[in-house]
Amino acid sequence: MPMIAIPSAAPAHKIDRRIYGQFAEHLGRCIYEGVWVGEGSSIPNKNGIRTDVVEALRHIKVPLVRWPGGCFADEYHWLKGVGPERQAMVNTHWGGVVETNEFGTHEYFELLNQLDAEAYINGNVGSGTVAEMHDWIEYMTLDSTAPMAELRKRHGREQPWKVEFFGVGNESWGCGGNMLPLHYANEYRKFQTYVRQYGDAPITKIACGANSDDFEWTDVLMARAAEHMDGLSLHYYTIPTGEWNGKGSATEFDDYAWYETIRQTRRMEELLRRHGAIMDKYDPAKRVGLIVDEWGTWYDVEPGTNPGFLYQQNTVRDAVVAALNLNSFHRHADRVRMTNIAQMVNVLQAMLLTDGGSLVKTPTYHVFDLYTDHQDAEFVPTPVAASTTPGALGTEGDFTVSRKDGAVTISATNWGLGRELEADFELPGAATDVLRAQILTGAAANSHNTFERPEEVALHDLAVRVDGSRVRFTLPPHSVATVRVAHAE
Ligand code: AHR
Repeated sequence: MPMIAIPSAAPAHKIDRRIYGQFAEHLGRCIYEGVWVGEGSSIPNKNGIRTDVVEALRHIKVPLVRWPGGCFADEYHWLKGVGPERQAMVNTHWGGVVETNEFGTHEYFELLNQLDAEAYINGNVGSGTVAEMHDWIEYMTLDSTAPMAELRKRHGREQPWKVEFFGVGNESWGCGGNMLPLHYANEYRKFQTYVRQYGDAPITKIACGANSDDFEWTDVLMARAAEHMDGLSLHYYTIPTGEWNGKGSATEFDDYAWYETIRQTRRMEELLRRHGAIMDKYDPAKRVGLIVDEWGTWYDVEPGTNPGFLYQQNTVRDAVVAALNLNSFHRHADRVRMTNIAQMVNVLQAMLLTDGGSLVKTPTYHVFDLYTDHQDAEFVPTPVAASTTPGALGTEGDFTVSRKDGAVTISATNWGLGRELEADFELPGAATDVLRAQILTGAAANSHNTFERPEEVALHDLAVRVDGSRVRFTLPPHSVATVRVAHAE
């Protein structure tokens, strides 16, 4: 069985904690019910925000939350969502329901405050104006007596907030305006000019990037607008069938659909490499970050639910998909500075599902839990076992290694359905302490948590065999594990 040698400290890139970013859109039950219940609700809340959701998300150390969309962002007019009299609108993208705008800018920053997370706001280019975007930035970040800052104060917030990240449009090639790349590059240049920086805190500006393998989009944006951006986004979803009309069920799938899902997920590696190579051409110093601000599984909605709400269950398959994507982000973290899984609660590959006052943690949530020690750690490049040995980790599995606070964290995935894999690592010195050893799997590949059985898929202790500097453990089929070990140098 090939052993994987973990080198001693060597220069490598950092795994930015923002790779673990979340995305909350006004879509289905993500914001309303999933996050916001209002102060008068019988569901326990603080200032209108669900306490159970905040507690669960704090546990996985959510670093930032992208908001308000998604496609919703390019229909959102922020002024309707501030002050005592909110103006309703129709959420045309997502079910045609009435959006009350009860959750707006102030409520978003309250959520961030409770999570201790950073802001990533997506502005409206598709149906908005430059002046509207300019005013929103002033409203949020200006500390003076100018009109929008004054309005914010009248609405009860004296101090400006910090907007760490601002996206200028979303999917401008599609729901955000159906633009061609050069047209959007020009729009981006214009709109971003008025995303002013007031005070000392810089706003990291993110341009709308490509859909999946649209490499031309990346090329044109980098050629024409790179000097005006700090980040360029990329959207790629795992769709088991690869077909928008008939994506497949979240819970009912056969082995073929499982392996197709894995294959579609592993395309992320190629996309990061190829978009990254184009960015390198224009920006060899890697100043501009690649921001994968939408990723995850996308299935047919759960039977009987509103097709516009994108509510889906989440199984062990999603856990493995999450691990494979996170491993790819780690490998490319010299360019990939942030990602945002879609979406945080009740939509697509969610962390949490709610039903009234009940909450379940999904298998994907548990992977984010297993991976918390990789946040802001040093990526450790390891010689990938090119071996085709049956049962070897490099063949039917994937892994990632990082180093932080004097310990090494190994996360490994068996994406096969057939056999166990042996993980066999050699540390640069003798192991002194096993700080964490946990595994996530399920009785079946489609095991999942329900409101009746919320602990069907949960983290369990993992048996680790330590012998000097050798660390070994067994990965059953369809599993994800993390082992964190302190060692002598
Ligand atoms: O995440 C759901 C939708 O997928 C987003 O609103 C949009 O940006 C993408 O097409």
